[in-house]
Amino acid sequence: MATAVLGMQWGDEGKGKITHLLAKDAKMVVRFNGGPNAGHTVIDRGVKFGTHQIPAGAFYPGVRSVLASGMVIDLAVLREEYETIAKHLGRRPELLIAENAHLILPYHRVLEDLEGSGKAIGTTRRGIGPAYRDRAARVGIRVIDLLDRTRLEEKLARRLELLQRTWPQAESITSLSASNLADNLLASAELFISSIGDASGAIQKAIARGEEVLFEGAQGALLDVDYGTYPYVTSSSTVYAGLPHAVGIGNLHVERRLGVTKAYTTRVGGGPFPTELVGEEGEWLQSAGAEFGVTTGRPRRCGWLDLVALRHAARLNAPTGLAITKFDILTGLKEIKVCRSYNLRDREITTFPTSTEDLALCEPIYESVAGWDDDIAGVRAYGDLPSAAREYLDVISGGLNVPIALVSVGPSPEETILTGFDRG
Ligand code: IMP
Repeated sequence: MATAVLGMQWGDEGKGKITHLLAKDAKMVVRFNGGPNAGHTVIDRGVKFGTHQIPAGAFYPGVRSVLASGMVIDLAVLREEYETIAKHLGRRPELLIAENAHLILPYHRVLEDLEGSGKAIGTTRRGIGPAYRDRAARVGIRVIDLLDRTRLEEKLARRLELLQRTWPQAESITSLSASNLADNLLASAELFISSIGDASGAIQKAIARGEEVLFEGAQGALLDVDYGTYPYVTSSSTVYAGLPHAVGIGNLHVERRLGVTKAYTTRVGGGPFPTELVGEEGEWLQSAGAEFGVTTGRPRRCGWLDLVALRHAARLNAPTGLAITKFDILTGLKEIKVCRSYNLRDREITTFPTSTEDLALCEPIYESVAGWDDDIAGVRAYGDLPSAAREYLDVISGGLNVPIALVSVGPSPEETILTGFDRG
């Protein structure tokens, strides 16, 4: 059976923990979008990791970790991450890297700073936007180019010529040489050359054999390049609707699609966030939930749960079940607010506006539910949750018309309630 773990908000929903939890039963775990902008927190046998490009399957023997063609890969970051995980495990995880995935080159990071475009958006400054832009502009360097040094150097020289003509004053660009870039790329790639292959074909075969294949989404629906809060988005498709293309399988059908959402909302970087709490309440959530970015360490903006935004995410991700994370963080609150609709220019709306400017004007209309005091970190069965906690879950599930499949009540894998309920 195939399963996908998909972010329903602006990333940081806790997908790392869920994927790690499910990966032990999988044969293959596939990352299909983004690159080292992602930071998935995984706690493996008590050791905490912030993984950036390697899927959580790497932590289990016999599970193949696939970096699919929808990704943009930074080889230097990959190598460091791979060696850290290999050292922790005492073995080398099995990787398969899509030959048609694009590479992040050092100039992509430089361009984010030179152009300053990432600043307003508050990107992770990992070169993601420029790398995807090169892909669309047909001047990108692909993983398959690593297999032929002459071809690689020629392509790099052509790309550099164009760049150096555009940025004649920028030493960080003019000082680059194709031969040096090729040397560095090939040194970082050395470990992975035998892992490069037809990822799309391998995924299709694994599914056809009936193996457990797990797709690990990065970022979240509201950061999708087309359907998120554009332009405050990442540069890839982050949703289930984009998955078949990102792995190159037209008739891909993933039976179980877990939509992961925190019990509240967070966002890093710029862009509208209707339910954002500024002041004491927001600071309380930030510190109670330890809301700091895994990749950049930036404090996350915090706010109440937003059902309008989640309904939009549900159309894109088509979840068969919801995974609610950081549920324990809300313990102790007298009242919990949930946004069901927005007020936009004195009109109540229930759909997520496409215009970012309109979204910035939206005032949330809240419904309040009662909080609970009992410590729920030790709860493992849904029925043992306090009734107020179950009522809050009913509001979420009812608001999206999707059953609750899983509730996370702490960071460790065992601090999880599996309801056994999933429409898939
Ligand atoms: P980029 O992906 O680095 O270009 O950043 C674009 C936007 O997406 C910024 O607002 C980032 O903060 C956000 N973003 C990218 N990756 C993640 C993630 O893994 N979690 C949360 N936000 C992210």
